Amino acid sequence: MVEECKPVLNTGLRGLIIASSKISDVRGSEGKLIYRGYLIQDLADKVCFEETAYLLLYEKLPDTDELVAFKEKLKTERHIPQEVIDALKTRPHGALPMDILQAGIGLLAHHDSDVRDQSRDAALRMAIRLIARMPTLLAAWGRIRQGEDVVSPSSDLDHAANFLYMLHGKVPDHEVARFLDTCLVLHAEHSFNASTFAAREVASTKAHMYAAIAAGVGSLSGDLHGGANVRVMEMLKTIGSIENVESFVKKTISEGKKIMGLGHAVYQTDDPRTFILAPMSKRMGERVGETKWYDLSKTLEKVAKAAFKKEKGLDLPVNVDFYSASLYYSIGIPVDFFSPVFAISRVAGWTTHVLEEQFADAAAKPALYRPESKYVGEYCGPDQCEFVTIDKR
Ligand SMILES: CC(C)(COP(=O)(O)OP(=O)(O)OC[C@H]1O[C@@H](n2cnc3c(N)ncnc32)[C@H](O)[C@@H]1OP(=O)(O)O)[C@@H](O)C(=O)NCCC(=O)NCCS
Repeated sequence: MVEECKPVLNTGLRGLIIASSKISDVRGSEGKLIYRGYLIQDLADKVCFEETAYLLLYEKLPDTDELVAFKEKLKTERHIPQEVIDALKTRPHGALPMDILQAGIGLLAHHDSDVRDQSRDAALRMAIRLIARMPTLLAAWGRIRQGEDVVSPSSDLDHAANFLYMLHGKVPDHEVARFLDTCLVLHAEHSFNASTFAAREVASTKAHMYAAIAAGVGSLSGDLHGGANVRVMEMLKTIGSIENVESFVKKTISEGKKIMGLGHAVYQTDDPRTFILAPMSKRMGERVGETKWYDLSKTLEKVAKAAFKKEKGLDLPVNVDFYSASLYYSIGIPVDFFSPVFAISRVAGWTTHVLEEQFADAAAKPALYRPESKYVGEYCGPDQCEFVTIDKR
C-alpha cells in the first residue's frame, strides 16, 4: 500500500524556518546581517577575527583580558601534526584546495582524542583547534604544491597576519593583514546557509566536530555557494577589460547564464558586506598599482544590474563574493584559494552552530534532521515490483 504523501516542496527549503538560533540574523529585505545582536557594519572594522570568533562561541564580546587569553589559546593550537604535513606531501599538486582542506580536517581528527568525548567541553576544544589549525593546513598546502618548505606558525602574529605569513613566507604589511582580517570577520557567520545547514545536519546525528565541519567545507565548495568567489575572478579575467563588459552581459543573458557574485537566496538588497568589501578592493588595487579588477567589477555590477532588470525584470543584488574576488586577488591569494579562505573564516560560525545544535537547552534543541521525499519511481504494479532472480531477467 502506498503511504499517503506529505506536501512536496522542491524549493530547497526556501522560506522555511527549521530551527531557532541565537547566533546570527540575516534580514534579507532590510539588507542586515547581525552577529549575536551586533550589526556587521559596527563589527567590521572595529573588531578582529579572534574577537568575532569569541563573540560567536561565547555569546559576548570579550574584554581585553579575555581577548588576550583567547588569542594566546589560538596561537598555542596552531601547529598541526607532522604526520598530517607528511600526508599532504603525498597528494597530487593539482588537487582542488577545498578537497585538500576537507581531507585535512579528517586527518586532524585522527590525532584528536576528543573525538571520542561527547561532552560540550570537548566539542568546544575541538572547535578552537579547528579555527586555529585550518589556516595552517591551507597555508601548508599552498607551500607544498609549489614545492616550497612549509612555514611554521608564528606566535608573534595575529590570526590573519599569521595565515599570510605561512602562505607567502614573509610577514605581511599591517594594512594588508588588516584587510584580510576584516574579510575573515565578514565571512565568519551567515545563519542557515547551505554549508551551515550541512554542518548542523551532520552534528544532529551526534557525529563529532570534525565530521560536521568537513561536511560544511564540502557544501561550501560548490559554485552556487563559497565556490562563487573563484568563478567571479575567472569571469573578470574572461571579460578582460571594461570595453568588453556590455557584450559579456548581453551574451550571458542570451545564453541564459548567470553572472557570478550577483543574486542571493535571502538578500533582496545588496549584501551589507559589499559596502565594506568594495572600498577595500579599491584601496588594495591602488596599493598594488592595479585597480583594473576593481574598476571592472564596478562597471560589471552597474551594467549587469541594469541589463537584467531591463531584459528579465530581475533585481539582482550584489553578494559577498563579488568584491571579495578582486580584493583577495590584490592581496596575493591564489584564485583557487579564495573559497578555502572563506572556509577558514566560516569555521567560526560552523563550529558555533554545531555547539548550538548539540548542546542547546532542551527546549531549543533541534531533533535529528530527517525530512521525507515523495517516491515517484517505479512500482511495476499496484504495490511493488515482482522480484525476478538474476538467471530469469
Ligand atoms: C545565489 C543564487 C543561487 C540564489 O538563487 P535564488 O535566489 O534561488 O534564485 P534563483 O537561482 O532561483 O534565480 C531566480 C531568478 O534569478 C536569476 N538569477 C539569479 N541569480 C542570477 C545571476 N547571478 N545572474 C543572472 N541571473 C540570476 C535566475 O536565473 C532566475 O531567473 P528565472 O526566474 O528567469 O529562471 C543565485 O543568485 C546564483 O546562482 N548566483 C550566482 C552564484 C553566486 O554568486 N553564488 C554566491 C551566493 S552568496
